[in-house]
Amino acid sequence: MGWWCIRVNMGIVCLLTMVWCGKGIGVNWGTQASHPLPPETVVRMLRENGIQKVKLFDADYAILKALGKTGIEVMVGIPNDMLASVGGSMKAAEKWVAKNVSQHISSNNVNVRYVAVGNEPFLETYNGSYIQITLPALNNIQSALIKAGIGSQVKVTVPLNADVYASSNNYPSGGDFRKDIFDPVIKIVKFLNDINSPFTVNIYPFISLYTDSNFPVEYAFFDGNALPLNDGGTLYYNMFDANLDTLTHALGKNGFGNLQIIVGEIGWPTDGDRNANIEYARRFNQGLMTHISGGKGTPMRPGPIDAYLFSLIDEDEKSIDPENFERHWGFFYFDGQVKYPLNLGTTNSGALVPAKGVHYLEKKWCVMKPTVRLDDPQVQPSVSYACGLADCTSLGYGTSCGNLDARGTFLMPLTAIFRRITSSKWPANFRMYR
Ligand SMILES: *[C@@H]1O[C@H](CO)[C@@H](O)[C@H](O)[C@H]1NC(C)=O
Ligand SMILES: *[C@@H]1O[C@H](CO)[C@@H](O)[C@H](O)[C@H]1NC(C)=O
Repeated sequence: MGWWCIRVNMGIVCLLTMVWCGKGIGVNWGTQASHPLPPETVVRMLRENGIQKVKLFDADYAILKALGKTGIEVMVGIPNDMLASVGGSMKAAEKWVAKNVSQHISSNNVNVRYVAVGNEPFLETYNGSYIQITLPALNNIQSALIKAGIGSQVKVTVPLNADVYASSNNYPSGGDFRKDIFDPVIKIVKFLNDINSPFTVNIYPFISLYTDSNFPVEYAFFDGNALPLNDGGTLYYNMFDANLDTLTHALGKNGFGNLQIIVGEIGWPTDGDRNANIEYARRFNQGLMTHISGGKGTPMRPGPIDAYLFSLIDEDEKSIDPENFERHWGFFYFDGQVKYPLNLGTTNSGALVPAKGVHYLEKKWCVMKPTVRLDDPQVQPSVSYACGLADCTSLGYGTSCGNLDARGTFLMPLTAIFRRITSSKWPANFRMYR
C-alpha cells in the first residue's frame, strides 16, 4: 500500500493506492559559506528541482521565511553549542520553540516537521562533552513542542554519526550499539521509541574508503563489482545496505525493531581528496537515487528509505579540521550551478535545474610577479598567508588542482574572497591583477 501522485495546478496531491510515492529525496542545506546564495534563490532551486524535504543545521530566520508557504517539509536544527542551554532550562527550550518553530508555523506557514536536537553530538572529537546533555535537551524540546500545541506535527530527533553502533562479527547480524556509549544511546533510543519519533543516522561510505586504504572501493557503490558480503545467506552488495542493517539489527536486538529510521546525511564530496571527485560522486549519488527510488529498501528493512542528501551546495567556510573535502559535498557548486548530471527522480526532465539570477562579484586573480623565483624563501609563507584567507582545499595531493606548482597555485581564482584584504596587507611578492 502506498501513495499515487497526480500533478495538479495547486501542486502535488497524493492519493492512497497500490503504488508507492514517498516524499522523495531530501537535501541538507548548510550555510557556512563566504558568499551564500540568497535564501529565495535557494528555495526557488529546491522547488524547480522538485525537492520536497530540506534539513537545516540551525533555524535562520530569513531561510525559514523563504520556505514559508512552499509546502516543503523542514527539519530545523539546534546546534550542539545550544544543547546545554535548552537541556538545562525548560524556559530556554520553550523560548527556542516559540521563536524558531511556532512563530514560523503560525505566521508564515512553514511546514516544520522535525527538530534535530544537536548534530552528531556523540562524535568522538567532542570528547563526550555533549553526551549527558543530549537527552535532557530532547526531552525539554519535546515538552515545549507539546506545550505549544504542535507536538503532533513536529517531532524531535537527533542526527547521530554511524559509529554509535558497530558489528561484533563484521556482518549486519552482529550489530549493536557501541559499548562505551551504550547506556546514553539506549536511553535516547527508548525516548524516541516512546514518543514515536525517528532515529536519525548519518552514513558515509566515502569516509570508510578515506580512512581505510584496504576498503574495497567497489563495495562503496551501488553498481559496484565487489564480491557481496554473505551474512548467513543474506547477500549485501553495497556498504550502505550493510551499514543500515547493522543499525536495524542493533535496534531490534535491544527491543526497538519498529523504530523508524531517517538517513540524515548521505553523499560523496567532489574535491579535497584523491577519492573525492566528480565521477565517484556522480556514481555514488545516482546509484543511491536509483536504489531509493526502486523502493526495495534493505534486506532487514524492505520498503522506502527516508534520506537527505549531503549536500545541496558547497560551503567554502566549513571547518577543514576534519579534512579538506569538507568544503566540497554539494551536488551544486557554491553558486548553485550544476556539478554533474544527477537524476533525483523528482522532475519530468530528470535534469538538475541550476540557480537563477545569481549576482557575481568582479573576478580577480592573484598571480606571482614574473620576476620572483620559485625557490624564493618568501614564497611558502605567502602561499600559507593566502590559503589562510582563501579556500585552498583543491590544491592537495590527488585533488583537482593538485598538480600545480607555486606559480600555478597563485593562478587559482580567489574570486571575491580577497575583497576583504586591503592592498597594503598584500604580501610583497604578489600582485593582484584585475
Ligand atoms: C533561534 O535559533 C537561532 C539560530 O540557531 C538562535 O541563534 C537563536 O538563539 C534561537 N532563538 C532562541 C530564542 O532560542
Ligand atoms: C578533546 O581533547 C583533545 C585532547 O585532550 C583536545 O585537544 C581537544 O581540544 C578536545 N576537544 C574538545 C571539543 O573539547
